[in-house]
Amino acid sequence: MTEIKLHNVGITGMGMSFPDKILSNADLEKMVDTNDQWIVERTGIRERRIVEKGVGASVHGAEAARRAIAQAGLAPEDIDLIVVPTVTPDMMFPSTACIIQDLIGATNAWGYDLGAACSGYLFALESARCQVASGMAKNAVVIGTEVMSSIIDYEDRNTCILFGDGAGAAVIQPVADSAPGIIDSINYIDGSGVKHLHMKAGGSQMPASSETVANKLHYVYQEGGEVFKRAVRGMADVALQVVEKNGLKKSDVKLLVPHQANTRIIAAAQRRLELTDEQVVITIDRYGNTTSASIPTALQIAYEEGRVEKGDLVVLVSFGAGFTWGATLLRWGL
Ligand SMILES: CC(C)(COP(=O)(O)OP(=O)(O)OC[C@H]1O[C@@H](n2cnc3c(N)ncnc32)[C@H](O)[C@@H]1OP(=O)(O)O)[C@@H](O)C(=O)NCCC(=O)NCCS
Repeated sequence: MTEIKLHNVGITGMGMSFPDKILSNADLEKMVDTNDQWIVERTGIRERRIVEKGVGASVHGAEAARRAIAQAGLAPEDIDLIVVPTVTPDMMFPSTACIIQDLIGATNAWGYDLGAACSGYLFALESARCQVASGMAKNAVVIGTEVMSSIIDYEDRNTCILFGDGAGAAVIQPVADSAPGIIDSINYIDGSGVKHLHMKAGGSQMPASSETVANKLHYVYQEGGEVFKRAVRGMADVALQVVEKNGLKKSDVKLLVPHQANTRIIAAAQRRLELTDEQVVITIDRYGNTTSASIPTALQIAYEEGRVEKGDLVVLVSFGAGFTWGATLLRWGL
């Protein structure tokens, strides 16, 4: 049997794109019975971005991908794999990967969408990394893009304060064995969590009908407290696990890039890894929870703010519907 030599894989380009329109806590105060103080204290969110009506997830996803591809010094034709983790695809089918491929002119790529909700980005990154590591793909782009505003009930104060729209993308490529790259990833699913966070209608089990629309079943359904408890435990556990599995210490970690669902969930992971505030990236105040876009955009923002340097050890960690959760360990290479 031929042995496959696995390549070291690194992030070589990043891009993000957010809509211009801001939905602030003050705006939400006019829409539901809530207030800025409650939202900030319970979630950490001050504002989020919202697309104009009719803008699908592919639009900002394509723009984020174009920017990531340019930063990697590639042309769209060089891309051979597109993976798009999204819970808000433009359409049920075809995949948003196909739509973005056409928009950006990545004519030599194959690709697919991947569903893991707020853990989508880490699951997609790992899926693409396996292909680049094995030589199946050379220049992959992983695009987290969401129009969460399309599945949010803006009359439900429990959920409408939480989510925002946006997109983040990374190009991954083989890099020299000695270069900084993605080291490892640990990912989990637990389907017993389905009942706590889902969208009831619009799938094959309950297709859209006038009744499902009247009963508001095409929106995010969430039992916030239960999700909160599981997220606190899941994110903190897996973040530490990926560090220890690789023979490293908490003190080796330079930066934690958590999924941005709630600053109180993030604080639990921060405490477990014994990190300072400076070592934890928070973008939820500006963008809310952008589901699959939250980790790549937070990572890029930290990079642009000069909070991570070449060779630094970074932990990406997520928790989401499913339940799904995971952590990726990497050395920063840009
Ligand atoms: C949603 C979430 C912010 C709610 O915070 P919480 O501290 O658990 O708040 P609770 O749901 O216990 O609600 C406390 C009270 O605030 C009220 N409340 C809920 N939303 C409110 C809002 N927007 N404004 C004001 N009050 C609100 C509730 O009705 C409740 O009132 P009651 O005690 O009179 O019934 C929190 O549970 C959470 O972040 N969950 C996880 C979210 C998540 O990670 N989701 C996606 C996975 S990635």
